[in-house]
Amino acid sequence: MANSVVRLPIFEPGLGKTLRRDAWWAGPLATFTILSAFIVYATFRAFENRYFEAGPYLSPFFSPYIPVGGIPLASSIPFLSPAMLILPGPAGFRLTCYYYRKAYYRSFGMDPPACAVGERSAHKYNGETKLFLFQNLHRFALYVAIVFLGFLWHDFIKSLFWPAPGQSGGTEFGVGLGSLVILANCTFLSLYTFSCHSWRHLVGGSVNSFSTAPFGKLRHTLWSQVSVLNKNHMLFAWVSLFGVALTDVYVRSVASGAFQDVRFF
Ligand code: FES
Repeated sequence: MANSVVRLPIFEPGLGKTLRRDAWWAGPLATFTILSAFIVYATFRAFENRYFEAGPYLSPFFSPYIPVGGIPLASSIPFLSPAMLILPGPAGFRLTCYYYRKAYYRSFGMDPPACAVGERSAHKYNGETKLFLFQNLHRFALYVAIVFLGFLWHDFIKSLFWPAPGQSGGTEFGVGLGSLVILANCTFLSLYTFSCHSWRHLVGGSVNSFSTAPFGKLRHTLWSQVSVLNKNHMLFAWVSLFGVALTDVYVRSVASGAFQDVRFF
């Protein structure tokens, strides 16, 4: 029986050249738009440097708030707002995140723009070397992110304690809409942080056999649970990014008087 020959279409090299017929450009375009909008907004807030506190609420862009003599410690450094000193911590975590790397290499670098779509120049993948060597610091960025997460959960607890009427310096327990917004933000950020690939490696990596490794059973349980979160890392990356921005918008709106917070009890 004669062999039938299958002729594959010839792929032409060049930026954006592809045989794909689906809307492959929609993902990179959405990524470019959302990340650009976030960077512009965060930069605006870092320079605006006000409306970051409303009652017991604190914007995540300005956390940790460490007052010295009534002003945030970071404000005592000339020309720098607290957000300018704080944001590089969480930003470094996102910049070196394995998921975001894929997203911004495609949307900002077009290198390549999508699977099976032509890139700018002849394909030369050298790994993350030279200028991109810093990406290997992701594990350390994770440690920094966990510290920031601790500050943010602390802010949530603080958001539940309101100035008590008639008691100078006293507080009383209460829950407002802002407390719930801050709680949601902390939850989304925790899901993003603890679904991280480096965290998964930390709890379950470098093990040949869980049954013989120290704390193997515990590590296997943790690793299995982190693996469930890890499958949704991309979702958590986006939801938490919106969460941070919307929490800041909420606190800013209440602080500036544009929106009246609702206190449930
Ligand atoms: S891989 Fe995305 S935060 Fe670690």
